[in-house]
Parts: sequence; structure tokens; C-alpha cells
Amino acid sequence: MPKTTRTLGLIGYAALLLSASTSLTEAQLLEPTTPPDPPKFDAQGTPTFVGVTDMFEYRALPEYHEPAWVTEKFVVTGKLPPVAERLPREPLVYKASNLPDGIGVYGDVMRHVIGGRPEGWNYMAGQSQGWGGTDIGTMECLTRTGPLFQVKAEELEPLPNLAKGWEWSEDGHQLTMHLIEGAKWSDGVPFTSEDVMFYWEDNVVDPNVTPLNGASPESFGEGTTLRAIDDYTIEWTFRDAFPKQYLYQMAYGNFCPGPAHIFKPLHPKYSSNTYDQYKNAIKPEYLNIPVMGAWVPAEYRADDIIVMLRNPYYWKVDDAGNQLPYLDEVHYRLSTWADRDVQAVAGTADNSAMEQPENYVEALKRAADPSAPSRLQFGARTIGYTLYPNLSANGWGEPDSRRQAVRELNRNFDFRKGVTSALDRQSIGEALVKGPFTAIYPGGLYAGTTFYDKASTVYYPYSAETAEAYFTRAGLADTDGDGILNFPADQEGGRNLEITILANADYQTDKNLAEAVIAHLERVGIRVVANFMTGTQFNAAQSSGQFDWVVIRNGSELVAVVQNTASLAPTGPRIAAQHQAGPDGSMDLLPFETEMVEVVNAFTATDDAAERIALMQRYQRLYTENIYAIGLTQYPGAEIINKRFANVPAGVPIFMFNWDVDNMMRERLFVPADKQPGYELHPQSLPGAPGIGNGPVS
Ligand code: GLA
Ligand code: CA
Repeated sequence: MPKTTRTLGLIGYAALLLSASTSLTEAQLLEPTTPPDPPKFDAQGTPTFVGVTDMFEYRALPEYHEPAWVTEKFVVTGKLPPVAERLPREPLVYKASNLPDGIGVYGDVMRHVIGGRPEGWNYMAGQSQGWGGTDIGTMECLTRTGPLFQVKAEELEPLPNLAKGWEWSEDGHQLTMHLIEGAKWSDGVPFTSEDVMFYWEDNVVDPNVTPLNGASPESFGEGTTLRAIDDYTIEWTFRDAFPKQYLYQMAYGNFCPGPAHIFKPLHPKYSSNTYDQYKNAIKPEYLNIPVMGAWVPAEYRADDIIVMLRNPYYWKVDDAGNQLPYLDEVHYRLSTWADRDVQAVAGTADNSAMEQPENYVEALKRAADPSAPSRLQFGARTIGYTLYPNLSANGWGEPDSRRQAVRELNRNFDFRKGVTSALDRQSIGEALVKGPFTAIYPGGLYAGTTFYDKASTVYYPYSAETAEAYFTRAGLADTDGDGILNFPADQEGGRNLEITILANADYQTDKNLAEAVIAHLERVGIRVVANFMTGTQFNAAQSSGQFDWVVIRNGSELVAVVQNTASLAPTGPRIAAQHQAGPDGSMDLLPFETEMVEVVNAFTATDDAAERIALMQRYQRLYTENIYAIGLTQYPGAEIINKRFANVPAGVPIFMFNWDVDNMMRERLFVPADKQPGYELHPQSLPGAPGIGNGPVS
């Protein structure tokens, strides 16, 4: 007898025996159970937990400093105002007591490698900068969440950033935010509520525009409005009282305004441009695009490199008054994600969020050498992949008849049970890397994270026979005897079933997982065909619902829950890529999805810890029992960082509330003077200085 039938208990087993209609095949179906415990794997490095004001506060300092060459070459010559005039009235001040290696020195470069390619600088309208820190480093957002990995639990709330403080109205429906006063874009133009309102009204709320990470009005709650009170005050109005959850939505990458003085004149509302022209107006070749981030794009060579130089108007300082960042340059070599791991380990690049398990064994071997140039540190199992069936049967994405038939199958519970039972997750994980890294992942919240509850997690164990029986129940049969299951007779003329699987070809891991799904389903007579696209095309296809199935690395909501909470279920028309509203705006949610939406909304609306735990248990059960989506594997990533860098926070995770490139607070990293190798490509230069950017600085 299969081991798992034991979980039925006596009553369940008796019922099974008594059920007259149960055929022999059905009696042998493996019953769902709970997932096995993941193999033991200890995360390396523990953060030093601190309170928010231990890290930083906003205040004026008696004096400010900058690299001597900036004063000499740019201030003394009248090209730039003195540093004190370039900083806001009260800059964000990092406290030396929270800097692992103290106050830093200026100079040096962080050399990144990325696998993406920049499309242009209008991320507000959905253009990608190539990921890997290019966007995180140039965007600053109302709040910030990356560094929360080291904030103590009692104080866990998004960090102030462009919004330096906020108050709730007595009834909790209004949130007044105070923007940092007197901060400037990297070209010296003041940052004000006009930038915030342009982002909101003409990018988030305008249905013709979708920002890079997909923010839509519902990301901030249905019916939410925003208005400017003055240049430095904005006011949110929410339907719910005290929805503190939305503070997480105001961090990367949902509320990071771009420069209105550049983009507003290009927007269709204020120009004769089309939306497409607006989105694509500012190509990567356009240099010195104004940013609020620590470094400004100053050089771009296609398929080669993006060089960013220090932002002379950056609005953060250390408590000795030194304007940040300490590092003068950041480089992004345009290569592949796999090459990022190889180069970071070899020392020809400076860091990697190592996330493709195919590289782990080799990287570990190399890093074990005491003379290795970089440190390597594994975190918790926060990287996970899911197979998402497209559940929109409402015409979204204008599917042809085959696609429509597949989407209807996707909505069939027996079909989804068949798919999940056909996957041997143990072997899927081992095919990526042997050893204790990967864990069986049924879907939903990850084992090892705060809200995970094993007892609420339903796992359909691997069994080809069970999968086949479920497919039979779903009405699929091999009517022409060629070994491939056919569509039901009334669909697609009853021809062989064919499903496409979309995956991001920029990552070996994504391709390997999609190939594994194809192979495992072939064994049970389902034909799945690979549809691999490069990152940029992939994002477009995924976000516009152009897929039958998609394999994709999951977002932070499944790790942190409190962040991007709305994305845990199809809570709005464009929130979940795999289940979007039809052209008429209506959703065709399955009954369990409606319940998931209710649970997620209830979670957002309450602050009560016990209630939140109970809600997430219900969420996990609804997700995994009904197979909202099909989990594949979860495993840890490792942060690789060159040993010459100081101020790297202990236990910095590659992925938690955000990616490592935010978590490690790059603006505070430095390299001691005697260890600076001279990797600068434009020593002692500023963005826009003669010969580099689009013209002189001032
Ligand atoms: C890509 C990479 C990640 C991380 C992020 C940052 O997604 O795969 O490792 O660098 O970019 O945006
Ligand atoms: Ca057939």
C-alpha cells in the first residue's frame, strides 16, 4: 500500500473501501498530504538587529564634505554650487554607530555584471533598465524596504526615504506624508510633489501606462486617491482604516517617481506623442538622465557596459557630514546572469546574487580557497519557482481557439491535479543541483518563512498513475492512440492537446525547470512545447497574459507576505499576470480565488498578529489545496561580494523584502584607500561633465 494512504486515517480509509463506484484505478490514487520537511540547511551570517533611528535620521549638520576633487574641479570653477547648497535642508543622515566598518573614504567602483539589457530610462512607463541593480540604484522611492532584513521585529515598518515622515488621521482613512524638503534631482532641479503627482496620475492611474513593476491603482487599494497639499506634502485617502500595508507598496518598485521635468512634456496628455512614443522616447543612449539615486548613467555601450557616476546632488550623508555615496562609480557589464556568478567568484566583478543552482558547486569550490577574492554566503530558501497556468477565460490577451481551450482546461480542478501529480519535484530539484539545497515546494508561502504553516499546506505527491487518472476525470483521452492525450471531442476538433510553456531564456535555471516540466508531462501523455523568450520580450508576454503556462521565479510577496501583499491573489484586474480581467474589465475568478482575494484583503485590513497568522493559514490551504498555481522548487541563494568592500551588513540576504543591491545599502559601502585598485573608467568625473554626458554639469 502506498505510504501516503496512511494519512487518510481510519474513517477515510473505510469510506474509500465502502464507496461502490470507486474503480480499482481510483482506489490507488495517491491522496494529498503535507509536504516533506526540507533538508536541513543553515543560513550563514545573522544580521545585527536594530531600530530604525539606530540606522538613520533626517537632520541638518553643521558642515558637509565631498570628495576634494569635486570641490576643486566643479565648485571652485563655478560649475556646481557648494555641497551644502546641493543638499536638502535636512538630509538623510546615516549614523556611524550602525556602519559595520564606520565612516568611509571616497573612491573606487563596484563592478556589477547583469544579464538584462536596458530598453531606455522610462521605467514609469514600463521600460527596463536591465535589472541587476540598474533600476534599484537609480530609483528612489517614497519608502524603502530592502534594509528591513536587519530591523527588529517590534519596529518592522517600511523605512522613510523620499517620504521622511507620515501621520495617519484619527479615523485612519488619511495618510499625510512629508516629502524631503529641498532635495534635488541629479541635474539640480528640485524634487517636489509635482514629481509624485505626475507618477501617480499620469503613469499609475492612466490605464494606458503600466510602470515597470506593474503598479496599478489597486496596488494601493481599490478607491484610493492621492493629492498634493503643497510642494512637500501629499495626502492619501484610503477606503479602509489604517491600511499600513500600503507603506510597503510605496517602496521599490511601485512608488519611485521619475523626473517630471523630463517626462511630463513627453506624455500624451501634455504633448502630441502617442503612448508608445512616450514609453520609448528616452533611449539608453540618452545620458545624464536625472535620477534621485546615488549614481547617474553617464556612459552606455550596447552589449558592453553601462557606467554610472556619483550623483553630485545625492541627498544622503554620514553623520560626519560626508555626502554619499562613498563609491565614485558603479559599472554594469552587459553579459549573462550565469557570467555574473563566474566573474564575481573569479574577482573580475565585485558582486553577485547567486541564484542559479547550476553554479553552486563550482562557486563553493572556488570560494573555499583562502586566497579567493570574494566572500560567499548562503541565505535562507527564499528563491522559488512556480508554474502558473493562465486562468483567464474571459478573452484577455485575445487568445485563439487553442489557447482558449487550454485556459478552460487550466480552470479544471482535475486537470490541475493531474499536472501537479505528474511532477517529480525531488528529481526536478536534484537536476538543478545535488545536495541539501533544493526543497520540494508545493506552491504558496515558502517553508521556513514567518507565515508558513506546514499543516495548512496541501501537497499532491508525485505519481504518474494518479496524474493519468486525474486527466481521465478531466475528460482527456488518447483517442487516436498515438500516445498523446487529445482535446475533448468538442474542442479543437479533438486533435492532440498542445500546451505552450513560456520561460525567461536569460536564465539557465528557468529553461531547465521548463524543460523538466515538459519531460515529466510527456511521461503522462501531455504535450508541452517550449516558448523561450529573452527577458524583455518575456516580461512583455507574461505581463500581457500571452501564455498558456509560464514558469517564473516568484516575487517577494511569497517571502515577506507584508510586501506586495495584493499580489498574493488576483485582487485587481491587472494584479496577477496569470489571471487578469477580460477586455470588458470583468474578472472570472474561480470560487476559491474569490476566497483568496477576501483573505488577502482581510490581511491588509488588520494589524492583529494572531488574526494575520490565521488568515495566512487559510490562504496557504486555499492556494495549495485548489492548486491556484503549481510550485516547483525552493532553494537558498548566496551573496558573493569582493573582500575589499567595507560596511557590508552582516547576513545581507540576496532576496527578502528586496534584492541584495538594495539590502546592502550600496551608498554606504566603501573601499579602504590602500585597497583601491583604480578601476575607475572616468576618474574624478561627474555625470554630464565635458566628454562624458550630454553637456556640462551646470
Ligand atoms: C535580476 C537578477 C536578480 C537581481 C535583480 C535586481 O532579477 O536576476 O538577481 O539582481 O535583477 O533587480
Ligand atoms: Ca493522441
